[in-house]
Amino acid sequence: MTTEVVRVDREHPDAGAIERAASYLRRGGLVAFPTETVYGLGVHALDRAAVLRLFEAKRRPANDPLIVHVASLDDAGGLVSEVPATARQLAAAFWPGALTLVMCRAAAVPREVTAGLDTVAIRVPSHPVARALLQAARLPIAAPSANLFSRPSPTSAAHVLEDLDGRIDMIVDGGPTDLGVESTVVDVTTDSPVILRPGMIGVNALRAVIPALTDAPTGAPAPTGAPAHPRTGAPAMPSPGLLSKHYAPRARLVLYRGNEGPVGAAMRRAVEDGLARGRRIGVLATSEDAQALQGLPVALADLGRTADPPRFAARLYAALRELDAQGVDVILVRDPAGDHDLARAIRDRLQRAAAEVVELP
Ligand code: TXA
Ligand code: MG
Repeated sequence: MTTEVVRVDREHPDAGAIERAASYLRRGGLVAFPTETVYGLGVHALDRAAVLRLFEAKRRPANDPLIVHVASLDDAGGLVSEVPATARQLAAAFWPGALTLVMCRAAAVPREVTAGLDTVAIRVPSHPVARALLQAARLPIAAPSANLFSRPSPTSAAHVLEDLDGRIDMIVDGGPTDLGVESTVVDVTTDSPVILRPGMIGVNALRAVIPALTDAPTGAPAPTGAPAHPRTGAPAMPSPGLLSKHYAPRARLVLYRGNEGPVGAAMRRAVEDGLARGRRIGVLATSEDAQALQGLPVALADLGRTADPPRFAARLYAALRELDAQGVDVILVRDPAGDHDLARAIRDRLQRAAAEVVELP
C-alpha cells in the first residue's frame, strides 16, 4: 500500500482533500489527521474489519481501547447508553478540546473499539482539520495516536510517515499540532468522575466544573497493568495510556528528579561518564541545561525554559524523535518543575517513556 500525503491549510483545509480522506474512511481505510493534541490515526468506528486493520497497522495490542472522535456531544448519542450530567457539564466547559470522556458503551460500538470494556471513550476535537474531516465523513472516527505502539506520539505528519509509511492509506498534513501532549481522559461513569490519564486539561480546571472529581491514581502503575477499572473492577487494561513503557524513544531514556542544582550536577556527571565510555549522548535540554553542558559533544534537543511547560509539551515528542534520529544511545532529561497543569502531564509521559528514574534531593 502506498501512503498518500496531502498537505492542507490548517485553518481552511481544501474541501477536495478532506472529501478524499472522508471517502477512505467510509470505505474502511486508515487516515491520519492532526488534532490539537497529537496526530490521530482514524478509522470508521463502527466498521469492525477496519478497526482490526487499524490495530494491525499500529501493532497495537487488542486490549488497548480506542478514543472515538465525534463532531459534537449530540453525535455521541448513538455510541453511549447514557450521557451523565457530569459529562454534559464537562463537555459544555471543554468541548471542542483536549478532553476525553469515558461513558457507558451502546451496543452499536464494536467490542474491538473498546477492547471488550463496556465503556467507550469519546472526544470532540477542536483542530479545524479534524473538525472538517468529522463534518465531511459524518462518521464517528476511532483514532488512537498515529504512531507505532509504545513509540512517542506524532506531532507532525513527518512523524506519522516515519512510523506508518506504507501501512495506512492517507495522511492529511495540517502542519505541527498545537499542544503536543494527549487529551486528559476522565471516567464519568461514577458519581465522582476520575482522571484516568493526565493531559492538557488539568485537575484544577476540571474541579472548577466538577468539584467531586478524583485525581488519577498517584505513582507508577503496577508493572502488570493499570489499576482495576473503578466501575467494572475489570482486571483488564482500563486505561492502557497508564501503562509503563509508553511514548518511548529507541534510546534509553534516563529521567532525573530533584532540585535544580543536584540534578544539573548529576546530569553533567552522567554525560562525562557516558562520553568516557564511548556512548553517544542526547539531552532533552531546557535552556538552563543546554547552557550548563555547553562545550561537551552531546546532542541537544531544546525544550525551552523550565518555566515554560506549554513549549516543553509542544516540543517533547518531536525532541525524542530528533535525538533518536541522531542515533544516540542514551537520552537524559529532567522533570519539569512547578505545578502547572501541563507540567503534571509532562511528568506522567516522561515517567512512562523512561527506562530509569534517578531520584535526587
Ligand atoms: O489526544 C488524544 O487523546 C489523542 C488524539 C488523537 O485524540 N488520542 C490518543 O489515543 O491519545 P490513544 O489511543 O493513544 O490513547 C487512548 C487511551 C487509551 O490508551 C486508554 O488509556 C484510554 O484512552 N481509553 C480509551 N478507551 C477507554 C475506556 N473505555 N476506558 C478507559 N480508558 C480508555
Ligand atoms: Mg497513544
